[in-house]
Amino acid sequence: MGSTQPEFKNPATTTLLELAKARRTYYGLKAESPISDEAIERIVQDAVLHVPSSFNTQTSRVVLLLKEEHQKVWDIAITVMEGLVAAGHVPKEMFENHTKPKLNAFRAAYGTVLFFVDYESLAPIKEKFAIYADKFDPFALESNAMSQYLVWTALHSEGFGANLQHYSPLIDEQVQKTWNLPASWKLDAQLVFGTPTSEPGEKTFLPIEDRFKVFGK
Ligand SMILES: Cc1cc2nc3c(=O)[nH]c(=O)nc-3n(C[C@H](O)[C@H](O)[C@H](O)COP(=O)(O)O)c2cc1C
Repeated sequence: MGSTQPEFKNPATTTLLELAKARRTYYGLKAESPISDEAIERIVQDAVLHVPSSFNTQTSRVVLLLKEEHQKVWDIAITVMEGLVAAGHVPKEMFENHTKPKLNAFRAAYGTVLFFVDYESLAPIKEKFAIYADKFDPFALESNAMSQYLVWTALHSEGFGANLQHYSPLIDEQVQKTWNLPASWKLDAQLVFGTPTSEPGEKTFLPIEDRFKVFGK
């Protein structure tokens, strides 16, 4: 892309793009928070409320887990994985040397945001717009991903590091039971966050020229 810096009318646009560039995956995290729990809550609530969804179906459901409640989700993952090791589905050596340290690293963080999609709530709109029926589930997941990205970026902006995990369906049943969540909430992702203890890994980029085209400029 061109090397000159274009002018934006609104300085907030530059800030927004800088925040997008600064967001990274952090695996080294500790259980400290640079901001109040209320500020974290506001970020998550705003992401739930203001991220768009197809036909404004508002299908995302989110649970914010902090401190001991956050640790529970990773205890669940460890227990489930231990069960898989005991049943011979996962090699013990791999679990002890790779999986368990990774899960304990997530547990050492400050919080986890659980992102769910309520697909069942789409039943009426699927009936109403039958020709789009097969589009609504993927749209709901896309909307959910937008919320994940906004929370990830906003938490980073406030001094947190975060990483995005996918332990569904392994942990689904225990998650639903532990926090007494509606059965229709289908878990998609877990965003782990805390104060960074190490830098993110190196990131490489495919040439933008191979991934972007502009016409009519
Ligand atoms: C849709 C999606 C799914 C991801 N799933 C995982 C995951 O399950 N575990 C994980 O450690 N990282 C996961 N990541 C993180 C990516 O590996 C990471 O974002 C990518 O390598 C770019 O690095 P960056 O986040 O530092 O920019 C996921 C990211 C996205 C966008």
